[in-house]
Amino acid sequence: MFYSLGRPIDFKLLRQDDKLDLQSSFEHSKTSKMKVTVVGAGAVGASCAEYIAIKNFASEVVLVDIKEGYAEGKAMDLMQCASLNGFDTKITGSTSDYAKTAGSKVAVITSGIPRKPGMTREELIGINAGIVKEVSANLLKHSPDAIIIVVSNPMDTMTYLVHKATGIAKNRIIGMGGALDSARFKYRLSEALECPTSDVDGMVIGGHSDVGMVPLIEKAARNSVPVSEFLSKERMSQVVEDTKVGGATLTKLLGTSAWYAPGAAVSALVQAIACDQKKIFPCSALLEGEYGLNDLSIGVPCVLGANGIERIVEIALSDAETAKMKESAEGVKKTNGLLDSVLA
Ligand SMILES: NC(=O)c1ccc[n+]([C@@H]2O[C@H](COP(=O)([O-])OP(=O)(O)OC[C@H]3O[C@@H](n4cnc5c(N)ncnc54)[C@H](O)[C@@H]3O)[C@@H](O)[C@H]2O)c1
Repeated sequence: MFYSLGRPIDFKLLRQDDKLDLQSSFEHSKTSKMKVTVVGAGAVGASCAEYIAIKNFASEVVLVDIKEGYAEGKAMDLMQCASLNGFDTKITGSTSDYAKTAGSKVAVITSGIPRKPGMTREELIGINAGIVKEVSANLLKHSPDAIIIVVSNPMDTMTYLVHKATGIAKNRIIGMGGALDSARFKYRLSEALECPTSDVDGMVIGGHSDVGMVPLIEKAARNSVPVSEFLSKERMSQVVEDTKVGGATLTKLLGTSAWYAPGAAVSALVQAIACDQKKIFPCSALLEGEYGLNDLSIGVPCVLGANGIERIVEIALSDAETAKMKESAEGVKKTNGLLDSVLA
């Protein structure tokens, strides 16, 4: 019998995808020790730890934060959900003691400042670059084989920074942005189509920024039927525009950037690696010629499994999509250019 949130699950009521996800989580939790570290116990880090625990595939999640006692407090609060939400994952907290993270299979970097209303993600680079560089070195000192997932913004540039600063294999450095942007795209599509998100398929590639995102509207489908069968050109453009400002819309409403969907998106990537699921997510990956691009990390479809990015999938793009991807890459490269002083 499988349980979710403390209640038995009726398998007949689940979609096939969810059945497979649950099965792989539970089978995995029975057979392996899977330690995950999340650096930054703030809004996104804590949400990510919570979703990982609820999905029950990891043996331990270690939260790390620079603020004295903060990670310990978040970990204790989350552990007090265990009996209520029915998970066995042990969550611990540490104030800057990376020895406690030793032996992590996956390490997530969410440390840094989030944007305030009116700010772009790129404006965060001055503070976050130093933090991400220091944190990735600390993580690898104690978990030299860890797969690193970068969340801190500007995420594509922070992912590139981890490549340049650590020199570890490119399959082990994954930027999370496209999984979130695609979830926001599917939400907007489901609104426009007046159908559940489970009926919708869509992907966002390109840079994780308001201007750089490339929602692949021509390829979006409702249960394999192109969305253009249901929506006017104007409505499709509106979906694309709403998706691109998805983060900014929430930042304006909340006064800081969002955390539930970002946490859920990170947990999905961690699960794909931990349970060797071979699922496709758009992730920021180091490109060496794929999509005609070189020497940058940017969102492209990737197969995620036990080895991190196991394959970059090159899909055929239309001329318009190719032009948008090129423009997006130019924007990311421009932000990468600001890293020189951090890398010096
Ligand atoms: N990639 C994405 O899709 C995505 C989505 C949402 C947020 N973000 C980014 O994630 C980051 C975190 O956002 P948040 O809302 O959780 O912010 P937050 O302020 O709630 O949490 C950040 C935490 O990092 C900690 N921190 C700062 N420096 C540290 C260090 N050197 N070592 C360890 N911990 C340190 C802070 O004490 C704080 O608790 C931001 O940069 C935000 O822009 C990215």
